[in-house]
Amino acid sequence: MSQTQKTLVDSFGRKIDYVRLSVTDRCDFRCVYCMAEEMKFLPRAQLLTLEELASLGQSFVNLGVKKIRLTGGEPLVRRGIVELVESLSALPGLDEVTLTTNGSQLSKFAMPLQRAGLKRINISLDSLVPGRFARMTRRDMLPQVLAGIDAVVDAGFERIKINSVVMRDHNDDEVLALVDYAQERDIDISFIEEMPLGQVTSHNREHAYCSSDDVRRLVEKAYTLLPSTDTTGGPSRYYRIPERKGRVGFISPHSHNFCDSCNRLRVTAEGRLLLCLGQENSVDLRALLRRYPGEQIAVENAILEAMMHRPEGHQFAQDDAPQILRFMNMTGG
Ligand code: 5AD
Ligand code: SF4
Repeated sequence: MSQTQKTLVDSFGRKIDYVRLSVTDRCDFRCVYCMAEEMKFLPRAQLLTLEELASLGQSFVNLGVKKIRLTGGEPLVRRGIVELVESLSALPGLDEVTLTTNGSQLSKFAMPLQRAGLKRINISLDSLVPGRFARMTRRDMLPQVLAGIDAVVDAGFERIKINSVVMRDHNDDEVLALVDYAQERDIDISFIEEMPLGQVTSHNREHAYCSSDDVRRLVEKAYTLLPSTDTTGGPSRYYRIPERKGRVGFISPHSHNFCDSCNRLRVTAEGRLLLCLGQENSVDLRALLRRYPGEQIAVENAILEAMMHRPEGHQFAQDDAPQILRFMNMTGG
């Protein structure tokens, strides 16, 4: 373990204190914005092992990272995920371990995750209408997800957030119903503009695009939104509703580029360190983890060195062309 406290700062002066680790590319859903109907997943041997993930977590903490989010694919389909949360939560110097999930298995996992030290949880929920939900996720599993959300509300997490990708003619008329749903449970909700990751055939992205400003106007038909300076270390811009606990956030990769304040790195399930969500360049950390097992310095030096190659930002356009060939499940949602 390195003794001197190092920090990750890129050549644009952005400090990195947040890492998203994808623990699997697999998922029990096939959301239309994230995957194709037929997907080929990585063979097991290509995934980082749980030990490698824990070691990587330790390396990032040695480099000054304060927050680790576990993502996928669907992180809860990875065996041993609760143990991983437990070992990461125990790392001195790490402020919090969080997780992004589709909610399908939360009835089973809410309590074990909470006991393992998970502080916050983000759950994807795009629709409250079963048929719509099934169209967007290609799985008819809304009841399981709603039961899962009830389970996390009961388990007493510090913060729970719903994430909804808004798509025209899919769920744009449900924005208010989703805000109501979150408000009734005193939880936050963020609306996300779809990003052009991977080639999709199920819909035309240009047509489906709903800007955050449009979504905000829909919310303002029923609620007063007060701009807030709250930040949870992510790109969500938050609003408060008077007298209410739950906040409403907007993640706007198209309409409000957030690259200049980007504080994060992502690691794919196969251990590629992505330097930017919207760019292909990456560093193969798995090779180093396997070449020098138990020696964190090689990995840490590679991460430090990669800081110099971090690009200034993404250039998502609003047309349908995928600018990035990897899907979100490969990227680490
Ligand atoms: N654009 C925007 N968000 C996406 N997600 C997955 N794919 C995309 C995309 N193309 C988000 C989903 C989910 C999280 C895991 O990633 O909202 O909540
Ligand atoms: Fe699975 Fe999340 Fe991708 Fe949907 S968005 S297919 S739930 S990884």
